[in-house]
Amino acid sequence: MVAVDRTVSGLRGRMRDWRTAGETVGLVPTMGALHEGHMTLVRAARAEYDRVVVSIFVNPAQFGPREDFDSYPRQEARDLAMLAEAGVESAFMPGVAEMYPDGFSTAVTVSGLTECLCGRGRPVHFRGVATVVTKLLLQCLPDAAFFGEKDFQQLQVIRRLAGDLDIPVAIRGVATVRETDGVALSSRNAYLTPDQRACAPAMIAALRHVAARIGEGAPASEACAEGRGMLEQAGFDPVDYLEVREEESLALVEGQPAPSRSARAFAAAFLGETRLIDNWPL
Ligand code: PAF
Repeated sequence: MVAVDRTVSGLRGRMRDWRTAGETVGLVPTMGALHEGHMTLVRAARAEYDRVVVSIFVNPAQFGPREDFDSYPRQEARDLAMLAEAGVESAFMPGVAEMYPDGFSTAVTVSGLTECLCGRGRPVHFRGVATVVTKLLLQCLPDAAFFGEKDFQQLQVIRRLAGDLDIPVAIRGVATVRETDGVALSSRNAYLTPDQRACAPAMIAALRHVAARIGEGAPASEACAEGRGMLEQAGFDPVDYLEVREEESLALVEGQPAPSRSARAFAAAFLGETRLIDNWPL
């Protein structure tokens, strides 16, 4: 049985009880529509911490005006059943008015990391993510919070804000979970038609191609142009970006990556109305 808190005071009371009993806590922030990728985060948290809290909140502040906030999948009963099955003790499921009461007027912006990649075409997205994650970290104050590497830019933004704001929570990245054909798990995969789903593996193929060509000595810009061609040929339209960037600073790499700095290939592209993103380490 998962205990559900819908208010910050309820969550804080539960945290106080656990802390008094000397227990450690891992937080897994989600927007629900849970899948195996989320459950991998839950298992990672369970393996290290006495208690796990999963937050489920579809955060309006991170959706642009023409994005899918209204249609974003919401399946509370199914999510809670999955959490119960995984032995999760607590779900934090606040409503919009609890998170953003009347008069709410504060935003967290992380400059430098948020203007590129997914921030370029979605100007409000990372401000919304940074604001809600800051709130969730401070509301719960867990020992650690777990995020998937599929949203690698988001993970780096959250690492930066936690460091900059001295929030005493370890930010943990967990490797992307993939289908057998390599497609990264995402709640948005549910939007794909069978034909679109058949095209989706081209994204990881293009990213792996970029990594392989750079490994052979090709400049990143050339490898990315080839990878972009692969995406377009597979039916992705438009391709939002296919770029190589340094992991920590997200600085663009056009030639060969500096050996001392880890880099990744990042892609975002549309199949019909559905925007897929993925990344692959070099
Ligand atoms: O990755 C997500 O599901 C969301 O962006 C997050 C981190 C839960 C914030 O709403």
